[in-house]
Amino acid sequence: MRKIASSILSADFYRLGQEIENALNIGTDWIHVDVMDGHFVPPITYGDKIVADIKKNNKNVFCDVHLMITNPQDHIMFFVNAGADLINIQSEACLHGDRFINLIKENNKLAGITINPTTPVNFIKHYLPIVDLVLVMSVNPGYGGQKFIDYTLDKVKELKKIREEDKYNFMIEIDGGIFLDNVKKALDAGVDVVVTGSSFFNGKEKEKKEFVEIIHNYK
Ligand code: DX5
Ligand code: ZN
Repeated sequence: MRKIASSILSADFYRLGQEIENALNIGTDWIHVDVMDGHFVPPITYGDKIVADIKKNNKNVFCDVHLMITNPQDHIMFFVNAGADLINIQSEACLHGDRFINLIKENNKLAGITINPTTPVNFIKHYLPIVDLVLVMSVNPGYGGQKFIDYTLDKVKELKKIREEDKYNFMIEIDGGIFLDNVKKALDAGVDVVVTGSSFFNGKEKEKKEFVEIIHNYK
């Protein structure tokens, strides 16, 4: 079954716990945690404590951490210790990516590698046998509510083809600009996990449920 990962970037932080519980009750599979450092991307969001607090209150929440930060190696262990389930690092920020991915895996966490819209699949070719997930950015990272970039679906299709041909196991996740009117297009391209941010948290309850149903019922 395809999965939905809801990004708390667009949640109302004053009511964060309620927003998360509500998303989970509706059927969200993963909570997507967008960590931004003001260097790799202009905004600053939140760090490992948010993951620790989520886990402290509900250890069953699957925390999908997306690190949009420079020097990710300096921060991986903080997120490991906070209880993150999956840690995504941006390929463009990695000087020793193979080492960082192995560090995540040695700590029994799922490891993801992320590519920005203009980063070609070939750039992460050597990660593909070792990662659990490839996150394809379908907007330029940094903000919720941006417009979906269509050519990123070509990379989803390319990744799916490589996975089949080379018998790899990684999941493919897409992040940014997904709305009810284009989610099916992403699923058709081969996406396994769909990140929903502003369209989910700013939407009505009925729309949230619709999102979950479309993604879970996709055949
Ligand atoms: C953008 C973040 C996304 C963001 C998606 O840099 O990585 O996860 O929350 O938000 P929407 O779904 O609004 O594009
Ligand atoms: Zn993200």
